[in-house]
Amino acid sequence: MRPPIDFGTILITGACSGLGQELARQLAPRARTLVLVCRHPERLDTLSEDLQALNPTLGMILLPADLSRPGEVDRVMEELSQHFITPGVLVNAAGGGAQASFTQQSWEDIEQTLQAHLLAPLRLAHRLLPAMIARKSGGILHVGSGLSHLFIPGLAAAAAAHRGLDGFFESLRLEVEGSGVVITYAAPGPVQALSEDTDGEAPAPFFRLSAQRCARELLAGFGRGEALVYPGTGHAWVMGLVSRLPRSLRRALGRFAAGPRPGEEPQLEAPPEQLLLTPG
Ligand SMILES: NC(=O)c1ccc[n+]([C@@H]2O[C@H](COP(=O)([O-])OP(=O)(O)OC[C@H]3O[C@@H](n4cnc5c(N)ncnc54)[C@H](OP(=O)(O)O)[C@@H]3O)[C@@H](O)[C@H]2O)c1
Repeated sequence: MRPPIDFGTILITGACSGLGQELARQLAPRARTLVLVCRHPERLDTLSEDLQALNPTLGMILLPADLSRPGEVDRVMEELSQHFITPGVLVNAAGGGAQASFTQQSWEDIEQTLQAHLLAPLRLAHRLLPAMIARKSGGILHVGSGLSHLFIPGLAAAAAAHRGLDGFFESLRLEVEGSGVVITYAAPGPVQALSEDTDGEAPAPFFRLSAQRCARELLAGFGRGEALVYPGTGHAWVMGLVSRLPRSLRRALGRFAAGPRPGEEPQLEAPPEQLLLTPG
């Protein structure tokens, strides 16, 4: 079973930058219509010019929307229905957010994170799936994170969204099995920012994939109808290993990844000069 990408209508969230932008570039030559959703209308204008150059017959709907606001997904859906547009494929690539201690974040920030990165993907699926099932054809590619397998201090609210969606999309996939709809959860590791690429295919440092390669592997796995995609051979190997580790070891990895907590930096017993001058 394959998602209807070729000559299809594809809605991409987070299309203004990062993986969402690169996915839009790789989908532009294949799709009939792209619906691009992100917070910055001015970035959508520039992106749409680039995409039109890749496919002059591509139809595009540009929808500025802040998914951290309740009701925004419904507003997007109403606009689409006014244009008689029914996406056959949904690509969730909106994401991001800074690392911060849970108790130091304001509740408003936490609610916005969960609204944009947990509830909005659920609401989009809830709005779009019935038509996909009725047509016996459709697909959802959710760009999540390898974080859904790890525990990292400073990313507790993000982990709630990533782990929640990992379970949600796996369960949903079983619910729609046999309906003609493909649901793929992708869990990338570190990805090089597009601005860091020199010629678009420059080799990334060890374990960091270029956005181009990451997007290519995500679309290949989605195209094959896979449930879970780990882009990059090294990352896939590590994720396979991590998911088999006992939770105690995963906690230790999380502590290591986060580094020392404030006030826990290793203390030298003597000033550095004195240590250097001590013979033997
Ligand atoms: N980059 C990595 O190393 C990496 C690694 C593993 C997983 N991932 C996952 O991949 C996904 C995409 O990450 P990325 O690196 O491509 O991020 P990015 O470069 O920061 O891009 C995120 C996109 O999402 C949009 N977005 C964020 N909050 C939004 C909101 N409230 N409403 C509407 N749009 C919103 C952003 O729009 P604005 O430009 O308006 O902010 C931007 O277009 C995320 O789920 C992330 O967890 C990334």
